[in-house]
Amino acid sequence: MEESVNFVKGYGKVNHSDEETAAVPRQSPSPKRRKATAAVITLGLFAIILGGIIGAAEVHHRRSKSNEPQPSLVKVAESIKAVCAVTQHPESCFTDVSTIDSGNIADPEVIFNLTLRLAVNELANISSLPKTLISKSHDLRTGSALRDCATLFDDAVSQLSRSVDAMRVGPGGGEEKLLTEVKVADMKTWISAAMTDQETCVDGLEEMGSPAVEEVKMRMQRSSVYMSNSLAILTNIDAILDKFGLRLH
Ligand SMILES: *[C@@H]1O[C@H](CO)[C@@H](O)[C@H](O)[C@H]1NC(C)=O
Ligand SMILES: *[C@@H]1O[C@H](CO)[C@@H](O)[C@H](O)[C@H]1NC(C)=O
Repeated sequence: MEESVNFVKGYGKVNHSDEETAAVPRQSPSPKRRKATAAVITLGLFAIILGGIIGAAEVHHRRSKSNEPQPSLVKVAESIKAVCAVTQHPESCFTDVSTIDSGNIADPEVIFNLTLRLAVNELANISSLPKTLISKSHDLRTGSALRDCATLFDDAVSQLSRSVDAMRVGPGGGEEKLLTEVKVADMKTWISAAMTDQETCVDGLEEMGSPAVEEVKMRMQRSSVYMSNSLAILTNIDAILDKFGLRLH
């Protein structure tokens, strides 16, 4: 009730002042004044729009900051270099890892994951090699060594796949700790086993005097390098994480 009374009073007041201004003969604003008003309105709109843009950018910036750091490409490259520095082939490690889209993430765990991906892809690519060679071979002794190789290559692929699985982030998202001491130890075991599988294959072929040994050795070169890179990173993971101000959990 009180409000409506006030409202009526207020309304009356406005009416009153309206009457007052109405007493002064209304004039349309001069062209000069109209121009000035337009300029002020334009300026005001501009400020509002600019404020909006800056505000949105600010929010976006803060949001990307809180979700995932978006490091510069230089920072990503530096991080890859720092991780690859512990490998036997730092330059090729850097070049190969840089060719994969990391989603612009400079995290050493993610970079390790990329070296692992290289190794798995390459190993998968050559895993059918022994079977292909078996179909071409007429030598019985070589055939048995190649069949061993086929089994060993399959085992190598599954050993590496265990490491890939260990690096998958659960539905929990980024907060989950990827690398733990247990995981690092497990992955070192699995990658070493995969490397041993390949070496055992070559040893068997050499023992049998197989003419296929040179081709197998040559085709295994890249996967051997990739696996040794991943293994070197895991072996030096404490020192690497330390450079990034991180620690194993
Ligand atoms: C590691 O790479 C695999 C694909 O090879 C991917 O599914 C997984 O999400 C990656 N994990 C991290 C932490 O980058
Ligand atoms: C797989 O190996 C073949 C023969 O060495 C090569 O030409 C091809 O580029 C490789 N593919 C991938 C994805 O590495």
